[in-house]
Amino acid sequence: MKDIDPTTLSADDWDELHFPRPEENDFDRVVESAISRRGFLGGVLAFGSGAAAMGAGLMGSTAAHAVTTSRFAFTPIAAQTDGTVQVPEGYEWKILMRWGDPLFSDADGYDLTDGGPLDKSDRIFGENTDGMETFSFRGHELIAINHEYPNRKINMPAAQEGVPANADDVLKLQNIQGVTVMEIAEGPNGWSVVKDSPFNRRIHHNTPMKIVGPAAGHDLLKTQADPTGTASLGTMNNCGAGKTPWGTYLTCEENFNGYFGSSDENASYDQKVADGFKRYGVKAESWNGYELFDPRFDTSKNPNEPHRAGWIVEIDPTKPNSTPVKHTGLGRFKHENAEVTLAADGRVVVYMGDDERGEYLYKFVSNGTYQPGGETESLLNDGTIYVAKFNDDATGEWLPLTPETTGMDDAEIRIFTRVAASAVGGTTMDRPEWVASSPVAVEAYCCLTNNKNRGVKPNAGGDDTSVNAANPREANKYGQIVRWRPSNDDHAADTFDWDLYVMAGNPTVHSDDRAGSPNVNEGNLFNSPDGMVIDSTGLIWIQTDGKDNNEGDFAGNGNNQMLVGDPVTGEIARFMTGPNGCEVTGLAWSNDLRTMFVGIQHPGSNWPDGGTPRSSVIAIKRSDNGLVG
Ligand code: FEO
Ligand code: CA
Ligand code: CA
Repeated sequence: MKDIDPTTLSADDWDELHFPRPEENDFDRVVESAISRRGFLGGVLAFGSGAAAMGAGLMGSTAAHAVTTSRFAFTPIAAQTDGTVQVPEGYEWKILMRWGDPLFSDADGYDLTDGGPLDKSDRIFGENTDGMETFSFRGHELIAINHEYPNRKINMPAAQEGVPANADDVLKLQNIQGVTVMEIAEGPNGWSVVKDSPFNRRIHHNTPMKIVGPAAGHDLLKTQADPTGTASLGTMNNCGAGKTPWGTYLTCEENFNGYFGSSDENASYDQKVADGFKRYGVKAESWNGYELFDPRFDTSKNPNEPHRAGWIVEIDPTKPNSTPVKHTGLGRFKHENAEVTLAADGRVVVYMGDDERGEYLYKFVSNGTYQPGGETESLLNDGTIYVAKFNDDATGEWLPLTPETTGMDDAEIRIFTRVAASAVGGTTMDRPEWVASSPVAVEAYCCLTNNKNRGVKPNAGGDDTSVNAANPREANKYGQIVRWRPSNDDHAADTFDWDLYVMAGNPTVHSDDRAGSPNVNEGNLFNSPDGMVIDSTGLIWIQTDGKDNNEGDFAGNGNNQMLVGDPVTGEIARFMTGPNGCEVTGLAWSNDLRTMFVGIQHPGSNWPDGGTPRSSVIAIKRSDNGLVG
C-alpha cells in the first residue's frame, strides 16, 4: 500500500482500504453459479437483462442515432485534458466564489498560503464545493452550497502526512466544511457575493442542530453532552442537496463514518452499536484524524456520536439565526442528495440514494400533504421509507420499511436504515448518487456511478451483489443512469416501470457490454455519472466524477465534465469540461434562468489562479444573455 497517499483518497476508496469486504466467502459460490447460468443462456444474462430493459426501455422513444434534430442550443465540445474550464461557443464562464473568498469584510485578505489561518476560517467560502440550490427571497438572490470534505495536504501543508497536529488544525478543518448560505448579485462584471449581507452564514461541524422525528431522543442518540438525544453539533460530509416546496435547503450527510475514530483500538461496544459500526464502516482509524484532538469524535468515549450523523439536515436560508434541523424520518445512511417532489395528492416524496457499493435507493412518502403556509416539520418525519426493488422484467416495487416488514422498531428503522433495507430484500445498486425528477414528466432518474465490487464482493451487510437487470455489469467501471416512471403517474405509487437511460462505456475500446448503450459514442464519452439535475424544460444535466486519465478503458473521456441529455431521444451531448483532476458537482440556476452555477471540486491543477488549487463555483451564461435552463 506504500504507493497510496491516504490524504488524497476519495471517501469510498478510503472505506475500501480500511474496511475491506470479505474476499472469499459463500458469496463467491453465488457468483460462480451466476456465471455458469450466463454461460448457458449466452449473452442474455450477461448483458441481456439490462439490454432488455433498455429496449422496453427507452420507453417508447427513438434511438439516439436516428435523431436528426437536436433540442440542444449549443454545439457540443470535444473532450479536454487541459487545466481550465471549457464551454461551447456562444457561452462564457466566470468565477463566482473560490475556497477562501471572504463572506464578510472582516475576513478580507484571508491568506491561503500555508493552508489558511484558523482565525476567520468560519467567515470564508469553504472547501470542496458540492450540491447547491438557489432561492429568491424578497428581492434577494440567495445560494446555499455544501462544502463536502477537506483537502488536507492543501489545508494543512505543514502537518505530517496531512494528519492534524493539534486542536487548531482540527478546528480549522471543521470550519471550512459544512454549508455556506450567501447572498449574490449580478453587476456589470458578472455575479459576486454580497459581502456582509445579513443572509451570509457559515454552518460547520460545530453549529448547533436540532434532531427531530421518529428517532429523536432514542437511547442510541444520547451522549454525555446531550442526554436528551435531540441536540447535536454540526453537519458533516455534505454532499448533494435538495430544496423543499416551502423554500428550505436540504443538505445531505454522506461519508460521515470516516470522521469518527477511536483512541482505543480494543474498545468494546454494545452489540447493536458494534453491528451498526460494521454496517456503516465506522472504524478505529478515522479519515481526518479529528478524534486525536476532539473527543466528541472518539467512539471509545462517545460511542453514540456517529448515530447523530448520516442524516438529512434542513436549513432555512432566509433566516440566518435559525437552527438547522436533522430529520431522522428520512433515514440514516450515506446520503447523496434529496430530490423532493409532490405526489398527486400533495404528499411529499423524497428520493434518496445511499452512495456505497451495493447499497440501496430509497424514497420517503409523507403521511400528511403539503399545504402552502402550513406546518412542514412533520412532512419530513411522519411518513414511510421505502427501498427500491428492480425486477428483471422492467417493473419495480417500493418495499416499505416498517416494524411489520423488518422486525425492527420505527426508531431503529431510521437509525439503521441499511439493515432494514437488507431485511426486506431491496435491490443492491451500483452506488446511487444523485436522483433527479422531471418537472415536465412524472419520472425520475438516478446516477449509478460505478461499482468495482458488482459481482465480486457482497456489500457490508453481506447482501448478494451479483449482477441484476438494473446493475447488469460485473466490476462496473463506467456507471449507468436508471430511470423510473411511477405507476398511475403518481410518485407515491408502490410500483413503477423502469429502464436504463444510458449505460456509460467506451465503444472505441470495447465491443462487449463495456461499449455502453447506443446513445454513447465517440463524441460524448464519459464515465461515472454523479451530479444530476433536470432543468425547467426537462433536459437532464449530468455531471461526472470519474477517471480522467484519458487512457485505456477511459481513452477519449478527457477531464470530468457536464453533459446534457434529451429524455425523449436519449441524445447526450458534452456541454462543459472542468480542469484536470477536478470533479464537476453541483448545479443551480439564477432566478431568471440566464445563469447556471456549477461547482468545480478539488481541481488537480493550479486552477483557477495559477497558485493553490481552489474549489470554486462558476457562473455560466450565454454571450447573448439568453436562457440557459
Ligand atoms: Fe459525495 Fe457520492 O458523492
Ligand atoms: Ca457525488
Ligand atoms: Ca462520486
